[in-house]
Parts: sequence; structure tokens; C-alpha cells
Amino acid sequence: PRIVAIVPAAGVGSRMQSSTPKQYIELQGKTVLEHTLNKLMKVGEISAIKVAISAADDYFSTLAINKQVISTVAGGRERADSVLAALGAIEQQSPDWVLVHDAARPLVCAHDIENLIAQCCAAKQGGILAAKVRDTIKRGCNSEDDGEFIDMTIPREHLYQALTPQFFPYELLRQALRDALAAGANITDEASAMEWAGHPVRLITGRSDNFKITTPEDLQLANFLLAQQVT
Ligand code: C5P
Repeated sequence: PRIVAIVPAAGVGSRMQSSTPKQYIELQGKTVLEHTLNKLMKVGEISAIKVAISAADDYFSTLAINKQVISTVAGGRERADSVLAALGAIEQQSPDWVLVHDAARPLVCAHDIENLIAQCCAAKQGGILAAKVRDTIKRGCNSEDDGEFIDMTIPREHLYQALTPQFFPYELLRQALRDALAAGANITDEASAMEWAGHPVRLITGRSDNFKITTPEDLQLANFLLAQQVT
């Protein structure tokens, strides 16, 4: 099957408190986005990569990357808008499947991506990498003026953290995202749109160190882990 990857990289990363968007912060001599793209390039099944970048992006054109395989599209206001723009931009490539992976997850390992692709293609159903929740999970509630308190403990038996990549049949995801956005649904990942449309989504266990770089303390850990990976 023809598989095209989409990398949403049009966010501003407001939680990072950095003037450089997080995908362009350098770790181990390369930007976060370059590390991410290098991981995807290791996966032989992926035939092309479309990166959604902000219209104001000054950084992408300076990266040393393979422009034969990797091209860009202007992103949108929310992550889902960026992914929808990329889905439109790859239409001429007639993909059967699309693999969406956050720019801010450079620690993903190629083996997990290959496993996700293999399991979903075999089952002919979409799926996502996910990690079982390991902490006890509390729901909070506000008291009038005294901060937040525990309302209840959520049984964690069936709880997962949704990671990326997320891998879906191209037409099915495009239609689901369009419809879910038009209906005003809260779509924070591709699976949310597929769930909204009533399609089954497989949970494929992935490594828990495939976290999304979000806050300044994440950078130190990512830097350490990338140093182990880059040989
Ligand atoms: O903001 P958050 O960390 O959830 O973003 C996840 C990914 O989506 C990041 O790689 C970010 O660059 C991307 N994004 C995007 N377009 C937006 C917002 C976020 O491509 N409008």
C-alpha cells in the first residue's frame, strides 16, 4: 500500500516559554523537527512526508533535509486544521494510508512505527501508538476559592495515553476530520475524529519514552535520551 506521512509542525509551542518554536530547538546538534523527520525516513514503507508549517515560519527552509521526499504545506489555526491542510495537499499522491506524527515527538523509535503499520495493515483498520497509564489518576474539582481538590479516582485499568504516530486509511480520516471539525467537535488528535465518526481505532502499545516535548523540563530529558539513540 502507498503510505504518506504527515507531520504537523505549525504550532507556536506557548508552553515552552521559548522564542524559538519547540520544533526548532536544537538538541544533540539537530533541531527537534530534523530528529523527528530522520526517524520517519528510516521507515521504508513511508513514500513521502508532508510537513505542515506556519505561514510565518523562518526556520524550515534552513534545514538540511531530503527535499525529494519531504515537502511543506501551510498549516492552520489548530492542529486538526494543519492535518486537514496536509491531507488536501497529498491528494495527488493517491495515498492508501496516512501516518500522522507530531513534530514534537523526536524520540519515537522506527520499530514502533513499523509495528503500528504492520498491525493496522493486517487488520485493515486504523490505530494509534498508546502507552498504558501507570500513575493513579484523579479527577479534580474546584472549591469556591480554595484551589482544587480530588473529586474522585478514575480506575486506570483501561486508560491509555494517546501517542503518535496515528495511522488511518486516507479517505476515511479525511472525511472524518472534515465532518468532525464542521460539527464543532473537540479534536485534539486524529483518533478523536475517527471515534467521533464511529470508526474502530486499534490501540497499539508503544514505548513510553515517545513523549511530546512540551515544557522546558522535557528538553533535558529528550536531550539525554537522544544522546543514547544517536550513535
Ligand atoms: O500544541 P501541541 O503540543 O498539541 O502540538 C502538537 C503538534 O501539532 C506539534 O508538532 C505542533 O507543531 C503541531 N501544531 C500544528 N498546527 C497548529 C498547532 C499545533 O501543526 N495550529
